[in-house]
Amino acid sequence: MAKVEKHHHHILPTKTALVVFVALLILTIVTVAVAKVDLGRLNSFIAVLVATIKALLVALIFMNLRNDRRENGIIFATAFLFLAIFMVLTATDLFFRGDVYWKDKQPFPAIATKSTLKQPWISTPELVTKGKALYDVQCVACHGAGGKGDGPAAGALNPKPRDFTSVAGWKNWRKASGIFKTLKEGLSGSAMASFATLPSDDRWALSHYVVSLGSNPGADTPADLAKIGIDPTKDGGGAAKERTIPIDLAIEIMSEK
Ligand code: HEC
Repeated sequence: MAKVEKHHHHILPTKTALVVFVALLILTIVTVAVAKVDLGRLNSFIAVLVATIKALLVALIFMNLRNDRRENGIIFATAFLFLAIFMVLTATDLFFRGDVYWKDKQPFPAIATKSTLKQPWISTPELVTKGKALYDVQCVACHGAGGKGDGPAAGALNPKPRDFTSVAGWKNWRKASGIFKTLKEGLSGSAMASFATLPSDDRWALSHYVVSLGSNPGADTPADLAKIGIDPTKDGGGAAKERTIPIDLAIEIMSEK
């Protein structure tokens, strides 16, 4: 321990101590003041920067690291370096994760919840054709190619997928409006999930196609449409209240608040 005895004890001049003390107080005030202003990502950056300066002041001057043995300085610097590495790595995840997942930086990805058609509840050959194309991708596994509820996945399901060619057993009514309701909400307690993330126009197209698979139930009356909150006197039914966003985006938004 000869080295320790040779060690020169440095006494911190009162004036230096006071200057550093005041500097630390001022920096604390800066931290509090900056926290009250919304600077976006800069807030965290400034907070960390100020904390770093304060830590250095304490370590170098109060703890007298600047006049201490070199190895202590190296230990401190190394610890500090690793801390910085951890913080930078965490920060890249914290601040830039969204950039990886949402390449198009739109706050709300383009999901048309409001219909682009004036009266999407009225069946047209175009909507039925579009509905079939969607059906063959989204629904066929359970409901089957002909809509008889006999798709390849149907065997494992209880309750069984609805047979669209039959009028029996419907839980919502067998009209485009009733199917639109099913597609929005799903049927609880069954494999029939909500398709609310599909654009409203797609759901109308699917509804018209499903109706076309069975006997004609007649067009939707204003009373039918009122049950799903649609006012047929308004363009697109005035159903703009319906807003849907993907679940992963919803989680991201909630975790930011
Ligand atoms: C994972 C399997 C599955 C998929 C995929 C699926 N369904 Fe279903 N669907 C079901 C089951 C099961 C039922 C019956 C639920 C019940 O009786 O409670 C059902 C019922 C329905 C009903 C009957 C609603 C009523 O009033 O009773 C409609 C309409 C319907 N599905 C439309 C569709 C459309 C359109 C698609 C594609 C966008 C689709 N389903 C995709 C399993 C599925």
